[in-house]
Amino acid sequence: MRLNENTVIFGERVILVPYRAEHVPTYHEWMKSPELLELTASEPLSYEEELEMQRKWHLDEDKLTFILLAQPESRSSKILSLGELQKCKMIGDVNLFLPDGKEGQGECEIMIASKEDRRKGYAVEALSLFLSYLTRNLPLDPSNLIARIGSTNQPSIKLFQKLGFGLVKYVKVFDEVEMNYGVEDDQEILSELNLPKSDQSKIDWKGIELNGKISQYD
Ligand SMILES: CC(C)(COP(=O)(O)OP(=O)(O)OC[C@H]1O[C@@H](n2cnc3c(N)ncnc32)[C@H](O)[C@@H]1OP(=O)(O)O)[C@@H](O)C(=O)NCCC(=O)NCCS
Repeated sequence: MRLNENTVIFGERVILVPYRAEHVPTYHEWMKSPELLELTASEPLSYEEELEMQRKWHLDEDKLTFILLAQPESRSSKILSLGELQKCKMIGDVNLFLPDGKEGQGECEIMIASKEDRRKGYAVEALSLFLSYLTRNLPLDPSNLIARIGSTNQPSIKLFQKLGFGLVKYVKVFDEVEMNYGVEDDQEILSELNLPKSDQSKIDWKGIELNGKISQYD
């Protein structure tokens, strides 16, 4: 989607930038990992196919994606120039798929590619900013936000629970759960899959103010 083609969102630890052709070499390297292919339910692509995919993520009106960068540890301001952004480490991506148009359900997915970058709070901050951006800039009602996650992917299930999503469906044929924003976990699914209860404090991402955190990627 072209909505965010020039948008940068600055968090404390993470920065969201539009997915451009310059990011494809690193993205393509990441997606050679069998672990990431499985966890994100993706197919391996050639470099040319990955470039075509980047083009589609940019232009197709049913898709919106950002690349995630790590905020440098030593910086004078969290708002960086384009030159500074281009030196930041790429750590993952976050995206939305709208199979039924902008007023239907929106499927969210996130990836922090390298194990060394996980458990540092990158995903929770990136998703909080992303969800806040989406629900302010698209006619997408928060109750239409969903995530589809492999049933054994506890890190991701717990992450979405923390952001206020609850388990609503177990799809046996794909061995995946569906989570929906704003609902409580279905207790039968929790016990059938032996998943942890959402005992964590929830993040109020709807209250996140984006003013002062957004700039242009040019
Ligand atoms: C799931 C994933 C995105 C989490 O990213 P992350 O940056 O490590 O997550 P954060 O550090 O922001 O953690 C936020 C919350 O997620 C949950 N979480 C993340 N990793 C976890 C783990 N290994 N075990 C249990 N809970 C975990 C916790 O609730 C955590 O909150 P806490 O730190 O207060 O306990 C990351 O593991 C990943 O990219 N995995 C591979 C791709 C994937 O599975 N994507 C999801 C497809 S929808």
